[in-house]
Amino acid sequence: MKATIIGTGYVGLTTGVCLAELGHQIICVDNNVEKIEKLKDGISPIFEPGIEELIKKNLTAGRLTFATEIAQAINEAEIIFICVNTPPKQDGRAELKYVEKVARDIAESINGDYKVIVDKSTVPVKTAEKVAETILRYSKTGAKIDVISNPEFLKEGTAIDDTMNPDRIIIGVDSKAAEEKILELYRPLIEKSGAPIKIVSVRSAELIKHGANAFLATKISFANLMAQICEQAGADVIEVLQAIGMDERIGNQFLNPGIGFGGSCFPKDIAAFKKTMEILGIDNSLIKAVEEINQNAWQHFVQKIEKELWVLDGKVIGVLGLAFKPNTDDIRNSPAIKIIEKLAGDGANIKVYDPQAMANAQKTLTNITYCQTVNEAIKDSEALLICTEWDEFKNLNLADILKMMATPIIFDGRNIFDQKTARELGFKYFGIGR
Ligand code: NAD
Ligand code: UGA
Repeated sequence: MKATIIGTGYVGLTTGVCLAELGHQIICVDNNVEKIEKLKDGISPIFEPGIEELIKKNLTAGRLTFATEIAQAINEAEIIFICVNTPPKQDGRAELKYVEKVARDIAESINGDYKVIVDKSTVPVKTAEKVAETILRYSKTGAKIDVISNPEFLKEGTAIDDTMNPDRIIIGVDSKAAEEKILELYRPLIEKSGAPIKIVSVRSAELIKHGANAFLATKISFANLMAQICEQAGADVIEVLQAIGMDERIGNQFLNPGIGFGGSCFPKDIAAFKKTMEILGIDNSLIKAVEEINQNAWQHFVQKIEKELWVLDGKVIGVLGLAFKPNTDDIRNSPAIKIIEKLAGDGANIKVYDPQAMANAQKTLTNITYCQTVNEAIKDSEALLICTEWDEFKNLNLADILKMMATPIIFDGRNIFDQKTARELGFKYFGIGR
């Protein structure tokens, strides 16, 4: 089938590349000319394991093409995906101007053939109705469309695998014709992966996405709350949460306490969901508490550092990790950045290393030293912070770290080290919730 993807970021590019890999004819559109030029040369503008190989393979096979204009790309396609960004507005609401712009651009160029418009961007409930209204209002050719919702659940760092082996595919559709088309597109993926497909109403699909992210964020904040309780009570949060998670109804995933959740998704999506609840007249205090606990997670970490190191001015602090999680170069809303900004603001001399995210950080974070190797960041530091749980850090040898540091103090924001070993070796070790 022929499909067009509008917005070639983490979601759009992954979707486009995977649909091409499954045999479809895909055009990916983005108004960022630089991005599209790179992609035409087979270069991925984002760091995502496995994506560049698939871009190159499908470009060569002629199944994947790139364009900068929506007008060049929509009339050949039967299905058009909207995958543009929906960032937070000042008041937490989702900014929908990019979605609206795409709807208007589609309206301007669309011919009279029936097309399915798929909203894959994360949006508040009832957005699809607005997209349909916009296209019909501005189309001069009597557009024949259905707008459906197909929320995306991929995670950065495992985007290709999440897309090729999804837990479920959610289709929010209120028309039989659109349902048949989208099922035809997804058939190769369903057959290959065996993923269950759930057909629901458009409004339900939109709420499934915000609800799922709110639930996952709640789980993480619950873990961080338990960490605080364990610290005060003298228990070990790892033991406590592992045992709690052994109940199949609860499960162990997304119960890792740390320095808080970040990224471009959870913070913005729960803020938007909170706003939706407010608009619907529903008490949103649960979500507010999730946000507060999350804010407290990195601030509490900083307080521990301040308490132990006393005067920060001039202290050499090694920081391992900038990305909001491992296997990505993404630093949006990364708690690591907030922690570094606070400590550097208090005069600490920060030396940082991250395997992928340093180029992005260098654009905004300038008053710190970027190290070429992990050892360079550790060497001569008076305290070492673990902010992202990259495998490279997990595999470090504590005895080697001890030899390199000026004073052996570790603040392990992701609980990657065995605290008993660290303490036996002579470290002053501060984990999370233990
Ligand atoms: P992104 O910022 O990486 O990419 C969005 C792309 O859209 C950009 O390349 C931008 O140039 C392009 N764009 C914006 N307006 C355009 C226009 N008028 N015409 C053509 N291109 C345009 O965003 P993303 O991370 O891919 O997220 C996209 C959506 O998917 C968001 O709603 C997000 O919440 C949701 N989502 C993201 C993830 C994730 O892990 N990143 C996962 C699930 C859902
Ligand atoms: C998240 C969801 O997991 C995806 O399903 C969803 O599609 C995406 O948001 C989205 O809607 O855009 P992502 O933001 O890529 O994906 O990353 P996660 O792996 O969910 O991690 C988010 C944050 O939570 C990270 O900062 C991570 O360190 C933190 N986290 C995660 C914890 O602190 N503890 C955990 O147990 C799990």
